[in-house]
Amino acid sequence: MRRFGVRIPTSAPYLKPFRYRRKGFLNENTMLNLVLFGPPGAGKGTQSQKLIDHYQLVHVSTGDIFRAHIKNQTALGQRVSQLIADGKLVPDEITIAMLEEEVKQNPEAKGFIFDGFPRTVPQAEALDAFLAGKNEKIMAVIALDVTQEELARRIAERHKISKRPDDDAEKLKKRIDEYFTKTVLVLPYYEAQGKLEKVNGIGDVNMIFAHLCEVIDSL
Ligand code: AP5
Ligand code: MG
Repeated sequence: MRRFGVRIPTSAPYLKPFRYRRKGFLNENTMLNLVLFGPPGAGKGTQSQKLIDHYQLVHVSTGDIFRAHIKNQTALGQRVSQLIADGKLVPDEITIAMLEEEVKQNPEAKGFIFDGFPRTVPQAEALDAFLAGKNEKIMAVIALDVTQEELARRIAERHKISKRPDDDAEKLKKRIDEYFTKTVLVLPYYEAQGKLEKVNGIGDVNMIFAHLCEVIDSL
């Protein structure tokens, strides 16, 4: 947890009263908007599924939405299909417009988990501005920390059974390259706002989930 810009272990017993007071900010009128951040294969989708059940949130995965458009052969799908198959980022203006549309379609949401968005600083700025227009904001950006060796192992494993064209070794290399040249720049953007939290993304899925809940419950 972070207080006055200082990171403090959430397990410290003397902090309990503060934590409970802080939890009060997340009352029924406050939307719990979270960004789940991490490189390809970090477990964003896996953990998002568990988090939306636990916190009753709406999952917005730009990757999943693009894949649905491609599957349904919409005009948007046709536009982005090759870029995604090649492991390249889709241009910001397309992605931002699609994201905003998705949020607007869920007016009753108690909050959103943004998975795979924002992936560039302009996307992060657009998201902040869009939420500010609704008197809402991102509460935290939780980055899953996973080594490149583990990412490659997981995606190679999934590639044996999945139909994702971007899961072959060469395309994965491009996705990881996009992550380390463009997407990581989003981290200092949120760190400057005091919203960045890091969680170890290696190990048992339920254990990682428990750590995520610990971070979220301390907001
Ligand atoms: P997107 O769909 O977001 O893909 P990604 O970020 O490359 O990552 P993945 O979905 O592969 O991984 P994940 O972190 O969700 O992990 P998962 O839970 O699946 O984006 C795809 C493409 O769309 C982009 O390349 C880009 O072209 C485009 N795009 C999307 N958003 C965009 C944006 N904002 N701007 C521009 N372009 C955009 O887990 C991976 C595997 O590991 C699974 O098999 C899972 O079972 C396994 N696993 C999960 N957790 C664990 C664990 N703890 N231990 C062992 N295995 C685990
Ligand atoms: Mg995913």
